[in-house]
Amino acid sequence: MIRRLHPADAAAFRDIRLEGLRLHPAAFGASHDDENAQPLDWFAARIADHAVFGAFSGAENLEGVAGLMVPAARKTRHKGVLWGMYVRESARGSGLAAALLGRVLEHAASVVEEVKLEVSPDNRAAMRLYEAAGFGVYAREPRALKIGDAYHDSLFMTLRLTRPDDAH
Ligand SMILES: CC(C)(COP(=O)(O)OP(=O)(O)OC[C@H]1O[C@@H](n2cnc3c(N)ncnc32)[C@H](O)[C@@H]1OP(=O)(O)O)[C@@H](O)C(=O)NCCC(=O)NCCS
Repeated sequence: MIRRLHPADAAAFRDIRLEGLRLHPAAFGASHDDENAQPLDWFAARIADHAVFGAFSGAENLEGVAGLMVPAARKTRHKGVLWGMYVRESARGSGLAAALLGRVLEHAASVVEEVKLEVSPDNRAAMRLYEAAGFGVYAREPRALKIGDAYHDSLFMTLRLTRPDDAH
């Protein structure tokens, strides 16, 4: 079952978000230590501010999350940013990630013209997932992340949801 998360889901969201940041530091721009220091209200506010979708097994078990951030600024709000894509290891390889991404993109199509994201070039599973959904690479940033003393490049991908003629 995939649905949009509500502020009442903040504790479950915090749990899965911190797990992802802890286990996969190179996959996210955010750091576990920074977000671990945040109170529950901060996670509730993120859910309220940016559309976050969750995939559940059963009624309660949150197995995966992904969000869409839409800028407030008039000149940039036609493009959303996919962020925080994470599926727990036990649910990987099941098609859940693609279903979750599809749900976020369905929502995105109703609010933006294009979706961007940032991914590590070493993250083959994520890249395949995004390519299969139609995303293409448009740039590479050297040394985008610094984790300890190690630098990591980022790839930037985008997916056009509407043709130029459709959007004004
Ligand atoms: C990225 C993530 C959400 C993908 O979910 P998943 O369940 O692992 O995805 P899937 O098993 O459906 O795999 C997606 C594709 O990658 C391929 N793939 C999976 N693992 C792979 C690997 N190690 N190397 C190469 N390809 C791989 C799959 O075969 C599939 O390709 P296909 O559609 O051509 O068959 C999940 O791995 C995850 O949460 N990773 C940690 C956090 C993360 O990296 N988030 C993304 C931040 S940008």
